[in-house]
Amino acid sequence: MNKQKKNNDTSLLEAAAEADKLRLQLDHYNLLYEQKAAPEISDADYDALKHRLEEIENIFPALVTKDSPTQKVGARPDFIVQSRGFIKVRHTVPMLSLSNNFKDDDVIDFVDRVRKFLLLPNTEKLEFLAEPKIDGLSCSLRYEKHTLMRAATRGDGEEGEDVTANIKTIASIPQSLPKDAPEVLEVRGEVYITRSDFENLNKYQKKEGKKIFANPRNAAAGSLRQLDPRITAKRPLSFFGYALGEVSEQIATTQEGIRQKLCQWGFEVPEPETIADSPEKLLKFHTKVYEERPTISYDLDGVVYKVNSLEYQKRLGFISRSPRWATAHKFPAEQAETILRKIVIQVGRTGTLTPVAELEPINVGGVMVSRATLHNEDEMIRKDIREGDYVIVQRAGDVIPQIVRTIPEKRANDSKPFVFPEKCPECGSPAIHEKNDVARRCTGGLACPAQAVERIKHFASRQAFDIEGLGDRIIEELMGEKWIEIPGDIFRLRKYAALLRERKGWKELSVENLLNAIEERRTISLDRFIYALGIRQVGQATAKKLARHYESLDSLLLQIKECEDQDSSAFYTLLDIEDIGPAVAEDIVQFFAGEHNQRVIKDLQKELTIENLIPQPSPEQTTALIGKTVVFTGKLLKMGREEAKAQAENLGAKVAGSVSKNTDYVIAGEDAGSKLKKATELGVKILSEDDWLDMAES
Ligand code: IVH
Repeated sequence: MNKQKKNNDTSLLEAAAEADKLRLQLDHYNLLYEQKAAPEISDADYDALKHRLEEIENIFPALVTKDSPTQKVGARPDFIVQSRGFIKVRHTVPMLSLSNNFKDDDVIDFVDRVRKFLLLPNTEKLEFLAEPKIDGLSCSLRYEKHTLMRAATRGDGEEGEDVTANIKTIASIPQSLPKDAPEVLEVRGEVYITRSDFENLNKYQKKEGKKIFANPRNAAAGSLRQLDPRITAKRPLSFFGYALGEVSEQIATTQEGIRQKLCQWGFEVPEPETIADSPEKLLKFHTKVYEERPTISYDLDGVVYKVNSLEYQKRLGFISRSPRWATAHKFPAEQAETILRKIVIQVGRTGTLTPVAELEPINVGGVMVSRATLHNEDEMIRKDIREGDYVIVQRAGDVIPQIVRTIPEKRANDSKPFVFPEKCPECGSPAIHEKNDVARRCTGGLACPAQAVERIKHFASRQAFDIEGLGDRIIEELMGEKWIEIPGDIFRLRKYAALLRERKGWKELSVENLLNAIEERRTISLDRFIYALGIRQVGQATAKKLARHYESLDSLLLQIKECEDQDSSAFYTLLDIEDIGPAVAEDIVQFFAGEHNQRVIKDLQKELTIENLIPQPSPEQTTALIGKTVVFTGKLLKMGREEAKAQAENLGAKVAGSVSKNTDYVIAGEDAGSKLKKATELGVKILSEDDWLDMAES
C-alpha cells in the first residue's frame, strides 16, 4: 500500500516537472508567435508539445493550472492574454477629443461662443489656462485608495484598452498618491517620448537590427501596446497629466488648481503654461510657444485653451464628443514638395470614387508620406492636378496627407490633364457625377465588390463592431472566398473553422482568436450597430443621437418606415433630432427602404443581441425629464438658449425645434410667439423660465 502510494507520488512529481517545462516552452513559443519574431517552431511541433501537455493533464487533473496553454484555446500567460486583444475597459467618464482651430479668428470665435453661452457681460472676467498640446497618446490612470489600480488607453473615448502592466513601467508616473488625494482619482494625460530619447531609441533599434520608428508618437504608441511589459520597461516613455476623469471629491475650483495638485502629487505637467483673459493674450501665447517649439524637448502640435473656472466648465458641458470649455489651436500644417507619380481611383463604401495620389516618398514634418488624398473629382479639376506634376503635400496632425497645389512652372511640356474614369474601376458599372454632388459615384451598389468589401471593413472597424483580428487584409481574403458576403456571415464564420486552419498563414491559434473575438461582439449597443450599418452621412455622433431618440432597433425601424411619407409626424420627428437636416434624413430613410439593407438587418437580428440605448441619468439627476420632449421658445433671461438646451439634454430630455403632439413641455420665455400659440392649441403643458429652472434643479 505504502509502496504503491510512493510510486504514484514519484510519477506525479515527474509529471509536474514535465508539465511545467512544457508550459514554459509553449508560453515561450506563443510569445515569439505574437511578436512574429524568428525562430518559430513548426505548427506540427507546437501541436505535439501541446498534446503531450494535454496527455499529462488528463492523467493528473490536479496538475491543470488556470493559466495552462491547454485551458483556453490560444491561452497564454497573463501578459500575453492582455496583448492579443488587451482587455477592454469602459471609461466611467468618457475620454473626449478637442475641437481644432487653425486660424486666429477661430480662437476669437471660441472665446465669443463661451461668453455667449455663459451670458457673460464684457465687464465680467473670463480666464483661460493655456498649455502645449502634446503629440502623444492619451491615457487614463485610475487611483483607488491612493494606489495606481488601472491604466487605460483612450480607445474610442468610451472604451479603451487595459495597459496597466505597461504603464507601471513608466518612471515618471507615481505608483501611489499622498493621503490628501481623493479615494478615487482618474488622472488623464499623454504618454510621450522626448525627442532626444526618441533619437537614442532609434539608434539602439538600428544597432539591434530592430524596427526604426518614424516619429516619437509612433514609438510611444508601439511601446505602450507591447505584448510584454518587459519590453515596454526598456522604452523611454514619459507622461504629462492635464485633466481629470472620475473623482470621488473635488480637488480644486480651477483648472490651474488641478494642475498644481497634480504637480504636488508627483506628476509632470506640460510647460510652458499661462493664464490669459482675452483672445489677444491667448494668441500671443500661441505665437510664443510656436517660436519656442524647436527648443521644447517633446513634440507638440499646438496649444490647448481651457476655461479656468471648473464651475464654468460644468455649465458649458459637452457638445458631441468635445468639451465646449476647451479647444485646440493647432500649429500650421507641415508642407513639402515632391513628385506625383500616379493617380489611382479608390472606390469607397458608398460608391464614391476617390482619387489618390501615389507620391515619390517624402518626409513631411518627420513622417514619411507616399500617398495623399485628392479628395474628389471636382477638387482635382479645380486644382488641375496631373500625373507627373511637382506638388506641395501637406500634413496636419493626424489628418490624411493632402495635395495643396501643383507647381505649374515645373510641369513637363507633354503633360495631359487627368481624365476621370466614367466607369467604376472595380466593377465596370457607370460612375455618375450628379449635378449637386462633388464626387463621382459608382452605380453598381452591392454588385460592386469594392463597395461590398468597404462596407464590411467599416462594419468590423474599431468604432463599429470593433472585431479584433478582423482587419482589412483578412476581410479581403474571406470575401475573396465568399465566406463573408454580408455582415451576418461574420457571425457564421465558425463553420469554416476547419478550412481556415488549413490555410497558409492561419494557425489554429489565430483562427480561434478571431472566432472568439467575433463571439465577444454578438452583443452590441444600438448606437454602434447603427453606425456599423454605414448609412451615408451617419457618423458616430448621429448614430448615438438616433439610438438615444428611438431607444430600440425595432422602434427605429418602425418609425423610419413611417418617414417614407414626408408629411408624416414621424418624418418631422426625425428632422427634430439635433444635426439631422433634410439631406441626412433622406439618406437615412433611403437606406432603410433599400431591400438589400432590410435583408442584411433582418439577418443580423438573428445573430445579435442589440442593447437598447436608454438615456442614462447620472445619480444626481432627476428622472422627471428622462425621455421627455421639450421645446424652448421666446427670450430666456437667466441663461442662454444654448445652455438651456444643453441642460435639458443633460437631464435626459430631447430638445425639439417645433411643437407637435409629441411635445411634453414648452418653455416660454419673453415674447414667445407662434410656438406658444400652437402649444396652447394642442394642450401641451407650458412652463415659464422659472418653472423650468425649478424643475431642472429639483
Ligand atoms: S485637455 C477633452 N490638454 O489632445 C478633454 N488634452 O485632440 C480635455 N491632448 O484627446 C483634454 N495635450 O488627449 C488636454 N495639454 C493638453 C493636451 C491634450 C494633448 C490630447 C488629448 C485629447 C486630444 C484631442
